[in-house]
Amino acid sequence: MSFPEGFLWGGATAANQCEGAYNEGGRGLANVDITPHGKNRFPVMLGLDNTLEFYEGEYYPAKVGIDMYHHFKEDIALFGEMGFKVYRMSIAWSRIFPNGDEEIPNEEGLKFYEDLFKECHKYGIEPLVTITHFDCPIHLIKKYGGWKNRKLVGFYENLCRVLFTRYKGLVKYWLTFNEINMILHLPFMGAGLLIENKETEMKDKYQAIHHELVASALATKIAHEIDPNNMVGCMLAAGNTYPNTCNPKDVWKALEKDREGYFFIDVQARGYYPNYALKKMEREDNMPVMEDEDLELLKNNTVDFVSFSYYSSRLTSADPEINKTTAGNVFASLKNPHLKASEWGWQIDPLGLRITLNSIYDRYQKPLFIVENGLGAKDVIEDDGSINDDYRIEYIREHIKAMHDAIEIDGVELLGYTTWGCIDLVSASTGEMSKRYGFIYVDRDDEGNGTLKRSKKKSFHWYKRVIETNGEDLDNLSF
Ligand code: BG6
Repeated sequence: MSFPEGFLWGGATAANQCEGAYNEGGRGLANVDITPHGKNRFPVMLGLDNTLEFYEGEYYPAKVGIDMYHHFKEDIALFGEMGFKVYRMSIAWSRIFPNGDEEIPNEEGLKFYEDLFKECHKYGIEPLVTITHFDCPIHLIKKYGGWKNRKLVGFYENLCRVLFTRYKGLVKYWLTFNEINMILHLPFMGAGLLIENKETEMKDKYQAIHHELVASALATKIAHEIDPNNMVGCMLAAGNTYPNTCNPKDVWKALEKDREGYFFIDVQARGYYPNYALKKMEREDNMPVMEDEDLELLKNNTVDFVSFSYYSSRLTSADPEINKTTAGNVFASLKNPHLKASEWGWQIDPLGLRITLNSIYDRYQKPLFIVENGLGAKDVIEDDGSINDDYRIEYIREHIKAMHDAIEIDGVELLGYTTWGCIDLVSASTGEMSKRYGFIYVDRDDEGNGTLKRSKKKSFHWYKRVIETNGEDLDNLSF
């Protein structure tokens, strides 16, 4: 079993979950900073808390993250040791434009990422840069109301122009918005939206979505103008929805669920709003305001590749009574009796990855990139300091096999694979550190205690071997 030559093996992180240094280097505050750990996390991510300040007595894990801001050389050296071909990371918008609406960028922020990219190239690692991974400068939320305001398109355009110009020759792969479909589920996190009025909630969300779609097309256009070598991708929180039974009503429900996510990529990859979405927005009176040139811009600036995160498939029923029992994750899903689940209830379905890869490829016929996949689990440090994370190895191995089948048997074009949280970091949904995804352990707990010391888990050595053999040796556990 081997992968295409030049297959991009690597790992992924996001600024808000690992960088820390929230008030250093001229950085401004962002929505992600004021999102606490604990029971108040969800209300904030949902946009139900409009204070936009830190509360006394709350713990805010993004403030320090895993302090990658000060450790990036050490961390990238470890990625280099594993043989990464690509490292997916994100830019903290407020590090470049502290308020978001300035005209002149913050040189210290620009220099930080320049050094980071140079460090990657030292080890032959290609950076894959997410321009926004759930972050939005607080000032843009306070003054303009986040992405529902058209002005954000212009501020984002400014950010992109600066990034593409400054990092020309250093970065080739870009993603415009992480999990763009998250706006529908966690609007404060996805688009800096506060839900102040339930009646206009959906209208605001669709307006914000339209602005992000226009901004994404604009970014693609500018990226290509500045450097024709740039490759720009969209990013979906993916995972096919299965119908609970063969009752056609369940099948229809599953199709509708999948369309909630595909809708975004239909626009970004095909260049126009699909009819089913136009009809829905019209029917529900949520049609966003569009400017004359928007549709032309979307049409002429489709993405070069489609990227997505995949953790699990989903299961749905047309019967609202049955659907009441959905497991409480961001993407509600019924319990699939054929699948095992992680400690956090995320169901494990490697074949679902092959199904998802095929569905997306059939739909768009563009190269794909799996930019997140992995297992969040609690790790135990043995007396000798070792961490034997065989469960993580098994999860990733089975998903790699599924991905191989999709390439080899089904002919799906896949550019690469970056596992999520290649180094332990703060969980986006729960704010915990104990939900670990990494090949590299970071000594920090859910309350912010720990030395931040990095150490290699068993999976570190295993993944190194996988990359060395271009996916041929998945079974070697003798280190
Ligand atoms: C994706 C996000 O939704 O899933 C990441 O892009 C996130 O930011 C990842 O960390 C895993 O989710 P969690 O909640 O386990 O961190």
